[in-house]
Amino acid sequence: MSAVSIIDAIYRHLLQRYLFARDAERAHRMTLRMLAALPAFTPPRDRPELGIKLWGIDFPNPIGLAAGMDKDAVAIGGWVTLGFGFAELGTITPRAQPGNDPPRVWRVPERRALINRLGFPSEGMEAVAPRIERIRKAGISIPLALNFGPNSDTPPEGIAADYTALIERLGRLADFIVINVSSPNTPGLRNWQSPKKIGELFEAIREHAGASPRPTPVLVKISPDLERNELFRICETALALGVDGIVACNTTVVREAVGVSSPHPGGLSGRPILIRTRELIRDIYTHTRGQIPIIGVGGISSAEDAWLDIRAGASLVELYTALIYEGPGLIVRIKSGLADLLRRGGFRSISEAVGIDR
Ligand code: FNR
Repeated sequence: MSAVSIIDAIYRHLLQRYLFARDAERAHRMTLRMLAALPAFTPPRDRPELGIKLWGIDFPNPIGLAAGMDKDAVAIGGWVTLGFGFAELGTITPRAQPGNDPPRVWRVPERRALINRLGFPSEGMEAVAPRIERIRKAGISIPLALNFGPNSDTPPEGIAADYTALIERLGRLADFIVINVSSPNTPGLRNWQSPKKIGELFEAIREHAGASPRPTPVLVKISPDLERNELFRICETALALGVDGIVACNTTVVREAVGVSSPHPGGLSGRPILIRTRELIRDIYTHTRGQIPIIGVGGISSAEDAWLDIRAGASLVELYTALIYEGPGLIVRIKSGLADLLRRGGFRSISEAVGIDR
C-alpha cells in the first residue's frame, strides 16, 4: 500500500467522518490549524514534464490551491507539503472585516459541492503581510499568488483605491496578483466585470505598478455566470489592456441549471460547475487566440478533469472543494495521473497540450 493510499484511507475512515460531523466552517478552521501545524516537509521533486513556465515564473506542477481556502495565509507550508505547484491566498481585503453572519458555508455531499456566502472574512493586509514576509525569508519552493478584494463597506467610488492599496502593500510579496471582481457575496462587486469598469481598474493598477522595473503579473478572476457576449467583451478588453491572465472561474449563483436544489444562498462550487468552467476556458482560449494565459478552476477532482481543462486552454488549474471530499492525497494522485495522461498522449510537457481541444 502506497503512502498516498494510507493517507487517503485515514482521511476517509477517520478524519473526514470527524470533520463532516461538524459545521462546515468549524471543520474548515480545524483543517487549517492541522495543516499549519504540519512539520516542515519538502515533498519529492515533481516530474520535469509537469513543470510549466509562465510570466517568467517556474511552476513545478500546474495544480494550484484556489482562493478562499487560506484567506489569511496561515498554512502556506501545508500547501507545499500536500504537493501543490502554487497557492492562491486570499481574498485579502485592505482592512480587517468579519464577513457575513454565520451560518455561511454548507456542504452538498450528494453533488460533491459546497455553497458559501462568506463575504470576504479577512484579517486584512497588515495582518497577512508579515506572515508572507516570514515565509519568503525562510524560502518557499512554490509560487504564491495573492487574491485581492475590496472591503464590504467601501463605497463604489473607493473600490479602485482599495485594490491599489492592496497592490502597494502586498504586491511585492506576490509572484502574481489576482483581482477578484467575481465573488457573488459582496453586493455590487460583479458589476466590476464590465469592460468599462475593468478598464478603469487596470488603468489605476497600472499607474501604481508602473514604477516597478519588473511589474508583478496581474490577473482577473471572472464569474461563471457571465453571458457569452459579456465574456467575449471581457476577452477583448483584456487583450487591449494587456491583462496578464484570466482565472476562470469563481462560484456560481445558478442552482437548477447545474442540477442542484438547495435552499442556501451564495456561491456554489465543486463538481456541478466542472462542465461550465470548461466551456468558459475553451471560449476564452478561442476568443483570445491563446494569447492570454488561463487558470482553470471549478469542480476539478481528478487527473482527467485537470487534463481536459488544460486541453481546453488552461495553462494552470486550481481546486478547492474536491479537497474536502477527496482528502489530502488528491494532489499527489492528480499529478501522477496527469504524468500518465501526458505520456499516453505523446506529449513531452504540459504546455504542448494547452488548448489542443479548442
Ligand atoms: C471560495 N472561492 C473564493 N474565490 C475567491 O476568489 N476569493 C475567495 O475568498 C473565495 N472564497 C471561497 C470560499 C469557499 C468556502 C469556497 C468553496 C470557494 C472560490 C474558489 O476559489 C473557486 O473559484 C471555486 O470554489 C471553484 O473551484 P472548486 O472549489 O470547485 O474547486
